[in-house]
Amino acid sequence: MGKIIAIANQKGGVGKTTTCVNLAASLSAMKRRVLVVDCDPQGNATMACGINKFQLNDSQTVNAMLLDDKSDINDYIIAETSGGFHLIPSNDTLTIAEVKLLDFLAREFRLKNQLDKVRDDYDFIFIDCPPSLNILTVNAMCAADRVLVPLQCEYFALEGLTQLLGTIRQLHDAVNPSLEIEGILRTMYDNRNRLSTDVSNQLQSVFGDVVYRTIIPRNVRLAEAPSFGQPAMYFDKTSIGSKAYLSLAGEIIEKEKQLKAED
Ligand SMILES: Nc1ncnc2c1ncn2[C@@H]1O[C@H](COP(=O)(O)OP(=O)(O)OP(=O)(O)O)[C@@H](O)[C@H]1O
Ligand SMILES: [Mg+2]
Repeated sequence: MGKIIAIANQKGGVGKTTTCVNLAASLSAMKRRVLVVDCDPQGNATMACGINKFQLNDSQTVNAMLLDDKSDINDYIIAETSGGFHLIPSNDTLTIAEVKLLDFLAREFRLKNQLDKVRDDYDFIFIDCPPSLNILTVNAMCAADRVLVPLQCEYFALEGLTQLLGTIRQLHDAVNPSLEIEGILRTMYDNRNRLSTDVSNQLQSVFGDVVYRTIIPRNVRLAEAPSFGQPAMYFDKTSIGSKAYLSLAGEIIEKEKQLKAED
């Protein structure tokens, strides 16, 4: 049964989408079956794997999937992306779901009900969340087994993290008892910056093993790749950014193996 991982941080621009697309591409290259669900009306994950969000009609996006009671998730999955993984795309129509979902009973479970139908078809399902703790993020966290938190090592990061962990705990207690933190990922890291090092050390002393060993450096190739509709490993496989995401994928696979061995 595939593992469902929500990539979330209510802070904007911390590397959620970059992590989602590059980690998914790295795991796909390692022969894992991966589905990405773009749960952000910005549609950045959709564009970053070569699918033009402006050319999608309304019935093709995650918005329609969430709102239509008769929808079948298989009709929304795009099997051909530049990252080698499958995708359920998004565009700005998803802002409609943010409002309309509020009229539904059991609105938190709309995504879960769909993903449960296909989780056996994948090893990993990643959900790229928007930069807020809205109903879309709540849907993602109700569907997920784990939350991966990308974090930029800067002054206010830890404050935001406390709020996010509080929300995860509330959802764990109220609606999804299996929800846990998958890991905290240091992104856009610049080791010449003293503050980054301080925050990183603090993070490790508070959260220990929950912090991934892999650190994602600030790397311009990671920022350039989306405008070419490609994950960094296909845009420039020698870049330190794409190598860092391959290393993260290795770390996640290793963790999975350890967990299975303990079972
Ligand atoms: N390691 C990195 N090095 C350099 N640039 C990066 C790195 N990671 C992300 N970026 C760039 O920083 C910007 C924000 O990254 P990204 O879109 O992944 O963040 P996000 O958390 O998904 O943002 P949002 O909250 O708006 O969804 C993008 O322009 C991206 O290309
Ligand atoms: Mg994003």
